[in-house]
Amino acid sequence: MMHRFTVLFVVLCATFHIAISLTDGLLRNGDFKQGPRPWQLNGTVVGRHNAIPSWEISGFVEYIKAGQKQGDMVLVVPEGAHAVRLGNEASIKQKVKVVKGRFHSVTFTAARTCAQDERLNLSVNPNVEKNDWGILPMQTLYSSDGWDSYAWGFQADFPEVEFVIHNPGVEEDAACGPLIYSVALKLLNPPKRTKANLIKNGYFEEGPYMMPNTSWGVLIPPHVEDDHSPLPGWMIDSLKAVKYIDSDHFYVPEGKRAVELVAGKESSLSQVVHTTPRKVYVLTFTVGDANNSCEGSMVVEAFAGKETVKVSYESLGRGGFKRAKLQFTAVSERTRIMFLSSFYTMKSDHSGSLCGPVLDDVKLLSVRTPRRAA
Ligand SMILES: *[C@@H]1O[C@H](CO)[C@@H](O)[C@H](O)[C@H]1NC(C)=O
Ligand SMILES: *[C@@H]1O[C@H](CO)[C@@H](O)[C@H](O)[C@H]1NC(C)=O
Ligand SMILES: *[C@@H]1O[C@H](CO)[C@@H](O)[C@H](O)[C@H]1NC(C)=O
Ligand SMILES: *[C@@H]1O[C@H](CO)[C@@H](O)[C@H](O)[C@H]1NC(C)=O
Repeated sequence: MMHRFTVLFVVLCATFHIAISLTDGLLRNGDFKQGPRPWQLNGTVVGRHNAIPSWEISGFVEYIKAGQKQGDMVLVVPEGAHAVRLGNEASIKQKVKVVKGRFHSVTFTAARTCAQDERLNLSVNPNVEKNDWGILPMQTLYSSDGWDSYAWGFQADFPEVEFVIHNPGVEEDAACGPLIYSVALKLLNPPKRTKANLIKNGYFEEGPYMMPNTSWGVLIPPHVEDDHSPLPGWMIDSLKAVKYIDSDHFYVPEGKRAVELVAGKESSLSQVVHTTPRKVYVLTFTVGDANNSCEGSMVVEAFAGKETVKVSYESLGRGGFKRAKLQFTAVSERTRIMFLSSFYTMKSDHSGSLCGPVLDDVKLLSVRTPRRAA
């Protein structure tokens, strides 16, 4: 009896420890509200490596307050907000408590400042795998206001890691370089396939942290590796991002979250599932629009191995969806399920921002076929 209590106590402590060591949300001073002291700044340039509370900086880093604008910077920091700008080879980093062995996703809001192709290099240290980093391209603008949120995923090899955002740029103009506005972290729950759905995370409910103050969703950037997906179970094996959206700011067909295929054929979402050859499966999903002024004729192509279906959807840009289905006979033990949008669509609000059909409620079931008479 005594022993059992001890075990329970230890388990509770471990659980409690996890609960207090990691909360989903902004990192410490993740919105850069606490800035450098006046004597640590020369204009906007931050002088000391530890001048921004909770962060460590290196290289040419500027601290920008709402309304400040200089040079050829194309946008201003929103009211009440603060941001840091990373010049060539500059970086910011912070030590964060994580859960060893588990997947996490980082969400950050950023904007490019000049016309150049700006990129950011995200990494966690130390991690056993040496090349645990990812390059996030920022050349395509998806939101109307110039700000976009991006997500990146990693598996923690230690209970505490150092998260680094680095601008690998070598622009001629040192004042060019992305602005970073907020950084948050989320512990991801491992997705499971169930009897009711052979697709993992098919309803897209598990995914990166959504910044509550932003109305533009979160971009899931293109990846090659599964283990960096901030959208558990899914791979974005295309050139461009897909957008993760929530029902607080968009129309979502099912539950609280869904994905918007924002870059035509250049953004595709896929998952490899275990199948039994010669068994019949039914893939069902919904295609709709996010109520974000994304109007026009849309087509979502779904693939299951070599089988495919094209689902057309007429969007008025005011929210809505239809259900679609693809029945197929598996030909191997692994079948790739993939979705993409056939066309590019732009918002009708003259912002020029890319948008597209919404995908949700993806479900795969094996169906019994009537037995043939022997
Ligand atoms: C979001 O808004 C809340 C309350 O207005 C504020 O405390 C927080 O700092 C904001 N977060 C960001 C990332 O701006
Ligand atoms: C502040 O920056 C200007 C321009 O880069 C430089 O000339 C000046 O020496 C700097 N001042 C200090 C106190 O570092
Ligand atoms: C990105 O950062 C990691 C870790 O600092 C580094 O090893 C890698 O070379 C960087 N990649 C690029 C392309 O700058
Ligand atoms: C679309 O958004 C408008 C304005 O925010 C709202 O009034 C309307 O109810 C939304 N439509 C749907 C289908 O949710």
